[in-house]
Order: sequence, then C-alpha cells, then structure tokens
Amino acid sequence: MAIFHRFLGLLILMAPMLLLHVVARQFDVGGKDGWVLKPTEDYDHWAQRNRFQVNDTLHFKYNKGIDSVVVVKKEDFDSCNINNPIQKMDGGDSTFQLSNSGLFYFISGNLNNCKNGQKLIVLVMAVRQPISKAAPPPASILPPQKIPATDLTSPAPTPTTDNSGSGRVGVSVSVGIVFMFIAFVGLV
Ligand SMILES: *[C@@H]1O[C@H](CO)[C@@H](O)[C@H](O)[C@H]1NC(C)=O
Repeated sequence: MAIFHRFLGLLILMAPMLLLHVVARQFDVGGKDGWVLKPTEDYDHWAQRNRFQVNDTLHFKYNKGIDSVVVVKKEDFDSCNINNPIQKMDGGDSTFQLSNSGLFYFISGNLNNCKNGQKLIVLVMAVRQPISKAAPPPASILPPQKIPATDLTSPAPTPTTDNSGSGRVGVSVSVGIVFMFIAFVGLV
C-alpha cells in the first residue's frame, strides 16, 4: 500500500510531463543546425515527425543579415515570392507562435536558399483533439485544461480523499506511465 502511494505520488508529480501536449511547447527548427540551407534532417521530415498544436512556438536560429524567415501564403511558398510576406523575421533568433490550427508556410528570405529548398510547412493540429485513443470515453469528455490544473493545485498529498473525483485522471496517467516505463525499459 505504502509503495503504491509513493508510486501514485510519483505519477502525480510526473503528470505535467505526460500531458505535455496540452501545454504550449517550443520547437527548435532544424534542431542543432537551425534554419539553414541543408539541415542534417530535412525540414519536411522534421515537420512530419513532430506534432504541432495551437500556441506552440517555432524557434528559428540563423545568420543575421545573411538569412531570414518569411511567413507566406501557399502560392508564395511555391514560387519563393518573398515580396508578399505575412510576416518577416530577420533578427537571427526568432520565435513564431502558431496561433491557430492549419498550415503555416515558411521560406528563407534569401531567394537562392528558398529556390534550393530552404522551406518549411507546419501543420498545426485542430484544438481539442482527444488526448489518446486508449483513454476511456469519460476521460475524453473532461476538458483537457482541467487535468493539469487540478494536479498542479493539489499535488501528491490527497490520493485517498478524491478517489471519485480524480480516479479517471489517475487511470489515464497510469496508462501513460506504463507506456513510459515500457519505453524506458526498451531503451536501457
Ligand atoms: C492560446 O493562447 C491564447 C492567448 O494566450 C489563449 O487565449 C488561447 O486560449 C490559447 N489557445 C489554446 C488552444 O491553448
């Protein structure tokens, strides 16, 4: 029992990590390479393996004065037209907030770089996606924002009193932690 409670406390402490997709995140475009002509991992591949959500931010790092980031419409993306920007960033270290769902188009402000493929399309997921298919139906009815809020305001100490209230949260978090353990064991 005591061990179980310690484990439960650990779960509650780790819940914010498991619910990361509810919290806005920052993505470093191109990883260590940043916003460059030939990143180690091409931007299509990078964008496709990440899940972008509303209010996440993209971080672009590039050589100021030599390169820049231009947010454009699809037709300007296709033609590398940098003269009709939605937004232009040229400070060398820029963040861009993905303020709505849908597609965002980024091209290099350096025309040659754009024509040689320095382009990025990001698809931002629609708001209120179910957290996971594995979660039981009642859990997905709960507004996602409520889950981290209750965990943050009442951390570890009250596992016995709110069995009815947070039981479902506990279940879905447990499912998450089990997957994490499996992943962890798999890595060791
Ligand atoms: C995004 O941020 C804005 C302003 O900070 C906030 O009003 C909005 O609810 C957020 N949207 C989501 C889906 O988190």
